[in-house]
Amino acid sequence: MSDPLLRFRPEFPILERTNYLISNSLGAMPRGVYDAMKGYADTWATRGVRAWEERWWMLAAQVGEELGALMNAPKGSISVHQNVTTCQAVVASCLDFSGKRNKVVYSDMNFPSVMYFWEAQRPLGARVHTVKTDGIGVPTEDLLDAIDDQTLIVPISHVLFRSAYINDAAAIIEKAHKVGAYVVLDTYHSLGTMPLDVQKLNTDFATGGVLKWLCGGPGVAFLYVRPDLGKKLQPRLTGWHAHERPFNFEAAPIQYTDSPYRFMNGTLHIPSLEAARPGIAIITAAGVANIREKSKRQTARLVALADRNGWHINTPRDPERRGGTVSIDMPDSQAVSQELIRREILVDWRPQAGVRFSPHFYNKDEEIDTAIAAVEEILKERTVASR
Ligand SMILES: Cc1ncc(COP(=O)(O)O)c(C=O)c1O
Repeated sequence: MSDPLLRFRPEFPILERTNYLISNSLGAMPRGVYDAMKGYADTWATRGVRAWEERWWMLAAQVGEELGALMNAPKGSISVHQNVTTCQAVVASCLDFSGKRNKVVYSDMNFPSVMYFWEAQRPLGARVHTVKTDGIGVPTEDLLDAIDDQTLIVPISHVLFRSAYINDAAAIIEKAHKVGAYVVLDTYHSLGTMPLDVQKLNTDFATGGVLKWLCGGPGVAFLYVRPDLGKKLQPRLTGWHAHERPFNFEAAPIQYTDSPYRFMNGTLHIPSLEAARPGIAIITAAGVANIREKSKRQTARLVALADRNGWHINTPRDPERRGGTVSIDMPDSQAVSQELIRREILVDWRPQAGVRFSPHFYNKDEEIDTAIAAVEEILKERTVASR
């Protein structure tokens, strides 16, 4: 079967040497990053301090636009940050936990760093309510029931990092709005691997980062703020980039500028922003709808191969509720993952998940078959060795 997305393979040097099935952790580096990094060094070397005015100051807005186009965000609604935890902190710094409406609702499958952050807001008055899950999916009804008129904010993952379960974001946002609460949708595992439309979902905030499915490397996360909210909110986590006249260096208090700089604070991570752009451009060219179609086909193939071997799967079976990863808990899964990596088949292992296989648009179907055949061989060898 012809696979038009494979035309992008030559853009990723590591695919020549490895079976790269770990885009849920770190997407492959596009060849274009070499030029982007050289361009960064050349600009600094030749333009010196003028680089700020000529390129660097606007780079944050530009990368925000490029990311925004992937999620149908209106112009100027995306600020860039170093990581998702910081994005959550910027959101929290816009909120007041001292009143009756101080409840924070999420499930126990949220990304740990996000939970650590919101838990740590208890001294400010936040009451965290954690909905229990079965370790794979989220009981949507329980989550919806927990969102009540004392709920201030619902910071949830769109796709769960451990099981790739796709939360019912539309239902959660609808319920939150009905009772007057905000939603922060963490799209780390959705943007780049499945279509996302922040306006259609009507989410208040969205966060995510570029290093996994967007092949953008470490150091760039993004925060979408709904434009009507963006005009009103006043982040306490702020700094000179958020000032209406940053280069006047006026004494405090701050006079907030408009989005997206309104939600930024201090000096930006320019090298990471430069490195992020080639990956975002390739994902845009490949088309997220095409990527999703292929991902569904390849994750179904992984599920079928795991079933054939009788291995336990910690990922939803329904393709409509499954993101880009299949977590397979075969016997001795941690040792199996180490041996796969030794054989240049790159995957990872997580407790309560097993081996996470995450094919992306640049993977061939044969690479999935090769990886599973390697697991079968490793398990056979281990059985023989233990006799
Ligand atoms: C859902 C989700 N959110 C956030 C993160 C990372 O957070 P941070 O950017 O703060 O390191 C990850 C990383 O795996 C994730 O899976």
